[in-house]
Amino acid sequence: MIELPPLPYPKDALAPHISADTLSFHHDKHHKTYVETANKLIVGTEYEKLPLEQIITRAAKNAEHKKIFNNAAQAWNHNFYWHSMAPNGGGQPQGDLAKKIEADFGGFDKFRETFLAAGAGQFGSGWVWLTLANGKLKVLATANADNPLTHGEVPLIVSDVWEHAYYLDYQNRRPDYLATFFDKVANWKFAAENLAHPENATKAA
Ligand code: FE2
Repeated sequence: MIELPPLPYPKDALAPHISADTLSFHHDKHHKTYVETANKLIVGTEYEKLPLEQIITRAAKNAEHKKIFNNAAQAWNHNFYWHSMAPNGGGQPQGDLAKKIEADFGGFDKFRETFLAAGAGQFGSGWVWLTLANGKLKVLATANADNPLTHGEVPLIVSDVWEHAYYLDYQNRRPDYLATFFDKVANWKFAAENLAHPENATKAA
């Protein structure tokens, strides 16, 4: 049974950057539907009693289970996305995460530019992640429901670039949404915790 956890903050907590309307539709309709659909699909299958992370990595290897993968991965991705944002977020990361961004991207501004370009350049629906891949930080854009778990990478933070994440607030202006996500609501503490404890990152959501 896959759960729909409540949002980790009130619906109006990210306004005006992400409105209460957007969070209502996004969590209570879109996310909820992925969870309900995934649960219907796994009843009576080998997936029924598995933890969500294992449903995702196992279903990813079987083309016949694409629907299970899509809905289970979207359930997980959204859990991770809610924690990737925080009231009074944004600003700049501190400590080890800041040092590693400097070392692996050549500075915070370059990281920001890379993340925003990858998110804006993801054709159609998808996600843009900061990941840890073979010990190095990396920006990874994924299509539709795909996520770092299927790439053997550790997710640190994510932004949802499906239109439903920003259309009510930003219409077609995905780059504006991404810049606001990055500068105003990104939860760098969450990313730093995932970097410090990569073994827990896939369960962070
Ligand atoms: Fe979404």
